[in-house]
Amino acid sequence: MARGNAALSRWVVEQAAAHHPDAVTRVAELGPGPGVGLEALLARFPDAQVWGIDVSSVMLSQSRKRNRAAVAAGRLTLLEGGVPALSASTPADIVMANHVLYFWRDPAAEMAQIRGFLRPGGLLALGYQLKQNMPAMAQRRFPPAGHRLYDTDDEVTRLAISAGFGSVTHLVKGSVEAPEGRVMLAVA
Ligand SMILES: C[S@@+](CC[C@H](N)C(=O)[O-])C[C@H]1O[C@@H](n2cnc3c(N)ncnc32)[C@H](O)[C@@H]1O
Repeated sequence: MARGNAALSRWVVEQAAAHHPDAVTRVAELGPGPGVGLEALLARFPDAQVWGIDVSSVMLSQSRKRNRAAVAAGRLTLLEGGVPALSASTPADIVMANHVLYFWRDPAAEMAQIRGFLRPGGLLALGYQLKQNMPAMAQRRFPPAGHRLYDTDDEVTRLAISAGFGSVTHLVKGSVEAPEGRVMLAVA
């Protein structure tokens, strides 16, 4: 997972930084998995306190291993849990979640909760891939497993708008014909 998704994680951090002109002191990543995104956040926002929140203790241990020095220095806090655990980071300047959207049963409700943990003007950076651009195996296996895939960026925008976000922007990594991933940036 770390190899396949690493480039997208790093790219999303750069897009979030470019879209957040103010000082960034509190940043959280939901579902950091192996911790590549956390590593990039720590490097890109050297003055920020960073939180990594994941439902999987196995994934958290990978994040810890990759970012041991930041945990020891007290800059990175790792917590087991879902969206409610973001309360530890509130009022967050940025919440990032890459390839997590598919696992939310009620994505509009999850996004509304995230908005509540962001400061006014804070940024949600949601990295994902559309269904048709996913590997064939994921397209086949995700829906029967109860995971939701998306056909268009508009579907994701509508969720963010219904959750109360504004100024929604979509960016594509790579070519439009063969995207390596995409990000939705939305302002609380
Ligand atoms: C496909 S992996 C992506 C990992 C990483 N963001 C990346 O792009 O490499 C999804 C991660 O999100 C976590 N996850 C799934 N649902 C979650 C939720 N509701 N809250 C927090 N983490 C979640 C999983 O445990 C896993 O670590």
